[in-house]
Amino acid sequence: MPPNDRVAIVTGAAKGIGEAIATRFLEAGSAVAAFDIDSAALKAAVERFRQKGRVIAIEGDVAREEDVSAAVRRTADELGRIDVLVNNAGIEVPGRLPDYSSADWDRQIGVNLKGAFLFAKHVIPHLAGHGGAIVNISSVHAFVSYPGNAAYDASKAGMLALTRTLALDHGADGIRVNAICPGYIDTPMMDEWLATLEDPDAAMRQVLAVHPLGRIGKPRDIADAVLFLASESAAFISGAFLVVDGAMTTSGH
Ligand SMILES: NC(=O)c1ccc[n+]([C@@H]2O[C@H](COP(=O)([O-])OP(=O)(O)OC[C@H]3O[C@@H](n4cnc5c(N)ncnc54)[C@H](O)[C@@H]3O)[C@@H](O)[C@H]2O)c1
Repeated sequence: MPPNDRVAIVTGAAKGIGEAIATRFLEAGSAVAAFDIDSAALKAAVERFRQKGRVIAIEGDVAREEDVSAAVRRTADELGRIDVLVNNAGIEVPGRLPDYSSADWDRQIGVNLKGAFLFAKHVIPHLAGHGGAIVNISSVHAFVSYPGNAAYDASKAGMLALTRTLALDHGADGIRVNAICPGYIDTPMMDEWLATLEDPDAAMRQVLAVHPLGRIGKPRDIADAVLFLASESAAFISGAFLVVDGAMTTSGH
């Protein structure tokens, strides 16, 4: 199906990588359901999206099943069909054990992993008749670890296992399921991380030094990869993990 007849749901679409993904789909002619928990940011983003194409804004929490099922129903009702799901919404709740609370663990896993599960669960019946694509935004943290990030890393590794098994279970319905593992990408999430450090400038210099391409990623770098995996050009790609990190992890960083 050409991109201009398709409907994509993008979670966490109000900022950062999700905003770039929604923009990229709209530019390709797809209609977009932009889902986010941050009502003010979503409102502002949708003003920008409207200049590019057909969009509906849906406020909700990916970790709440009633929000997810209502969002999927509304997308199918108002945009007529669903072809692509991008599970992008994510948070980072850092902390080292044993001080990490059960509530922090539940929040971290609830948004990143349960959110992807819930959206897939409710979208798959809509894809099953005609096929479609799910793209999960994981992280290089699924493969390489950094101190104090056990729960975030576990959530992102869990997304890869979910990707693999959904690809297996729903391939016969023509549904392809893939994951993207971004490295350092210049978004509000990254700004929040830098703000927690004593010397953000020194940290940024260190980050740049481990990037063979000499720069960190832009949200658009991830959006382009998502558009490819969701397109007919990726018709035989399913159950795959695409690292998009400017070769950072090739050297073990
Ligand atoms: N920025 C990076 O360097 C980087 C690297 C690897 C992976 N990622 C992943 O990419 C994804 C997007 O990250 P980003 O950097 O754009 O983050 P961001 O914080 O800039 O944006 C995340 C968006 O998700 C929304 N969101 C958060 N919790 C939500 C919830 N419960 N329900 C609905 N929406 C919610 C936020 O409101 C926000 O609009 C995340 O899954 C993140 O883990 C980011």
